[in-house]
Formats: sequence, structure tokens, C-alpha cells
Amino acid sequence: VKLIILRLGHRPIRDKRVTTHIALVARAFGADGIIICGGKDSKIKEKILDIRERFGGEFSVEFGEKFSRILREWKEGGNEIIHLTVYGIPLPNVITEIQSSKKDKLIVVGGPKVPRRVYDIADYNVSITNQPHSEIAALAIFLDYFSGGNEFKLKFKNAQVEIIPDAKEKLMKEIKKLD
Ligand SMILES: C[S@@+](CC[C@H](N)C(=O)[O-])C[C@H]1O[C@@H](n2cnc3c(N)ncnc32)[C@H](O)[C@@H]1O
Repeated sequence: VKLIILRLGHRPIRDKRVTTHIALVARAFGADGIIICGGKDSKIKEKILDIRERFGGEFSVEFGEKFSRILREWKEGGNEIIHLTVYGIPLPNVITEIQSSKKDKLIVVGGPKVPRRVYDIADYNVSITNQPHSEIAALAIFLDYFSGGNEFKLKFKNAQVEIIPDAKEKLMKEIKKLD
């Protein structure tokens, strides 16, 4: 199952760190890519692709123009839309059903104000508690539940470096490429 994040309402400058962190969390927790809607911000793309180059994997970064069209086309392709929102159904109530579907998933996280039509077109409006907090946190918890904690076992292909976990030291191994 392919997981793509749709980040709505990105405001260059103001949301630089938050959107970068959404992408880094998505990648580290096993999603396949992100589509950023709002302002085009090539610095963010460079930063994520730089991390991908060093730490491996195949995470994709794209910019989307019209989010309504992206949502419509995703649905027309027979895939699912999961919108993370404080107003939705609590994650533990729907996670088993979401996990059992083999359809690709677009996971929508909002920005300043999410339009009504996103709630309407989503297959699931899912809350990570019904308290307002953060799109980064909401995404991390969703992906953790969805994969059943598998983010701790992920291996990223074609990495140039790999961190060796250690209780005290900062250890990083350089991986030699053969070609
Ligand atoms: C800082 S919130 C602002 C949402 C905005 N006030 C609105 O009503 O549309 C930005 C995003 O964080 C995510 N978010 C925040 N709290 C959440 C929660 N408790 N459960 C799920 N997602 C949440 C949602 O994706 C939301 O669109």
C-alpha cells in the first residue's frame, strides 16, 4: 500500500520548518512521498532530497497546484483519502478498518484553515485526540499506528550513511557504494 502525504496551505517562510518536518516524519515513518500545496518552495524540496540522498530510500517530493483536483483525481483512481483533523473520529476506532484496506492512501494534513470540501471528499476524517495540536504530531501518530510500530525496523535502500544506535556516543557509519 502506497502512502502519500498531502500538505495543504503551505506558506513559504512561515511554514518552512513545519512543512519540512512533515516531510521528514513522513519519510522516517515509512510513507512514500509528499505533495505540498500552497506556495512553491524549492528550498524545502532540496533539503528533503539531500536527506534522502544521504540516508537513503525513495521518498518523493512534489508541489501541487490545485488541491481539489489532486483529491478528485486520487479518488477517481480508486484510492482512499484520510484527512487528519481534530474534529474526526478517534484513530483507535478506525485504524483496524483503515489497515485492512489495500488501497493506496492520501493522508491529508491541514494548514491554517481546511475547507469544508476536504471533509466531504475524505473517506475518513480521523482525529488524534480531540484536542487541537500539530500536523507534525498528528501525522507521526497516524503512521505509527498504521504500521504497528514498524518505523523502528525500516531499512532505507542506497543510503550513504547510517546511524549506529548507542547509549552515549554519536556514531555514524559511511556506506561505500560499489560502482
Ligand atoms: C494547527 S491545525 C489548524 C487547523 C485549523 N484551525 C482548521 O480548523 O482547519 C493544522 C493541522 O494539524 C492537524 N491536527 C491538529 N490537531 C489535530 C488532532 N487533534 N487530530 C488530528 N489532526 C490534528 C490537522 O491536520 C490540521 O489541519
